[in-house]
Amino acid sequence: MAIQNGFIQIIQDEKRDYQYEEAMKTLRTNIQFSGNGLKVIMLTSAMPDEGKSETSSQLAISMAQTEGRVLFIDADIRKSVLVSRFGGGQQIYGLTQYLTGQRLLGEVLYHTNLPNLDIIFSGPMAPNPAELLSEDAFSKLIAWARNEYDTIIIDTPPLGSVIDGAIIAQRCDGAILVVESGALSYRLVQKAKSQLERTGCRILGAVLNRVDMAGSGYYHRYYGKYSKYTKYYENEPVK
Ligand SMILES: Nc1ncnc2c1ncn2[C@@H]1O[C@H](COP(=O)(O)OP(=O)(O)O)[C@@H](O)[C@H]1O
Ligand SMILES: [Mg+2]
Repeated sequence: MAIQNGFIQIIQDEKRDYQYEEAMKTLRTNIQFSGNGLKVIMLTSAMPDEGKSETSSQLAISMAQTEGRVLFIDADIRKSVLVSRFGGGQQIYGLTQYLTGQRLLGEVLYHTNLPNLDIIFSGPMAPNPAELLSEDAFSKLIAWARNEYDTIIIDTPPLGSVIDGAIIAQRCDGAILVVESGALSYRLVQKAKSQLERTGCRILGAVLNRVDMAGSGYYHRYYGKYSKYTKYYENEPVK
């Protein structure tokens, strides 16, 4: 992604393979068949790095290319990867600035080169994301977006780390659980699922990410990844 003339240029540089495109199409279709009235959809997972941001942004792009107006919200305030993918030192305003009243909605809403896709980035790290997300401003944003867009896709933090995901779930019509293939125990995924269920948000299904299609097991992640889980709390707020 890059910014040009105030528009976010979405550059699909990595050539997605056929299987990925097909999986995305299946995901889209499954969402469509999950019922009417599904407008606000969040993607979450039990742990970091399972592919929430990857899957949610690709899903938003894919839906914007085929199914009407889409708003993508990066609500992983504690660890936004999307802004850092910009580079170039451009000033980007985001969700935290809107939620704290420092910026107006119009200032944090970015249009993209895809006419049907708008983005709200997470903005600088705030010290109290859970509180910010519980306040009125967030529900007002979602209520506004429901009128403006056909679909709202929300990227969230992992359920196993912080409460933010559960708070966001209360404003969503449905949630999709991203599960990294072979990385987590059944128990952990089950726990994430029950956490979501307790919020009253409907679970639409799960995406099994990073499946080793070759079946050779060449892609293997160890439980060492849990070191990243603790690091999650160490993100320093940006002042
Ligand atoms: N299906 C996939 N194929 C290839 N790379 C992937 C896939 N899913 C995620 N990744 C990569 O793995 C890393 C972590 O994914 P990300 O979506 O940022 O995880 P999360 O948002 O759950 O923390 C990123 O570098 C991302 O590009
Ligand atoms: Mg992420």
